[in-house]
Amino acid sequence: MPVAGGPRGALYNDAPMQALLNTAVQAARRAGDIAIRALSRLDQLDIRAKARNDYVTQVDQAAEQAILESIRKRYPDHSFLAEESGHSTGKSGHSEFQWIIDPLDGTTNYVHGFPTFSVSIALRRKETLEVGVVYDPCRQELFTTMRGGGAQLDGKRIRVSERKELEGTLIGTGFPYRSNTRWMKTYLQMLGRVMEHTAGVRRPGSAALDLSYVAAGRLDGFFEFGLEIWDTAAGTLMIQEAGGLVTSLTGKDSHLDSGDVLAGNPKIHDALRALLTPHLNSSAT
Ligand code: IPD
Ligand code: CA
Ligand code: CA
Repeated sequence: MPVAGGPRGALYNDAPMQALLNTAVQAARRAGDIAIRALSRLDQLDIRAKARNDYVTQVDQAAEQAILESIRKRYPDHSFLAEESGHSTGKSGHSEFQWIIDPLDGTTNYVHGFPTFSVSIALRRKETLEVGVVYDPCRQELFTTMRGGGAQLDGKRIRVSERKELEGTLIGTGFPYRSNTRWMKTYLQMLGRVMEHTAGVRRPGSAALDLSYVAAGRLDGFFEFGLEIWDTAAGTLMIQEAGGLVTSLTGKDSHLDSGDVLAGNPKIHDALRALLTPHLNSSAT
């Protein structure tokens, strides 16, 4: 797999960076293949609602198991934070290496056969993101990143866009549709402002992919409330390594913890912040 090595070839003597990335890539491809194979049998899918508008299928679970198995084979002592397991399932549970996994990001799209979903895998050591992979199995596009090594799409270096003003930009977002509907009023005001000032807004339905599109310059910016760390971890490193910014929209804590996310090339990130923060009120913070 041709991935740029970057200035840092090795993370630690016992866990070379490239080997970690290769493991994540292999696991993501396995999970993506499982999702694609089951696409032709969507009518047989067992769809369970974990909460209102929050679905899980046997494909999410099988894909997650495949990822865990692939990674554990190489790194049996590492710990995991995987969406469908929901807790650390590492053997020791004390490893400072933690894999953060969304086996199928975009399940609502998936159960409708709407071909926009992804697999997202990140590795962090303590609080530092080290490796990220987002795989779109429909387009077979692979986004990869390592801390200090840039971000790549199918092995080619990607950068955030160079647009400097909101005028003419394309912005990604996610609508509030689950527990995050408490932000609905605030969100709709913000959406209106963004629509007035940009060339367009897109809601593709897979946050990990949205963030990767910001890294690749396909979107100039992105905002959403109520995301989970497995939606954002890999995409965050991707954007940072592609020269962009990701922060918390409300300015509180880290966006990885708060789940409200503002991203973009540095200029558009700041312009969106200036446009959106006046609309934040107590319901959004
Ligand atoms: C969802 C997608 C979606 C975002 C939701 C996420 P899931 O992930 O990323 O774009 O708007 O907030 O929960 O549940 O399909 O893995
Ligand atoms: Ca997700
Ligand atoms: Ca998911």
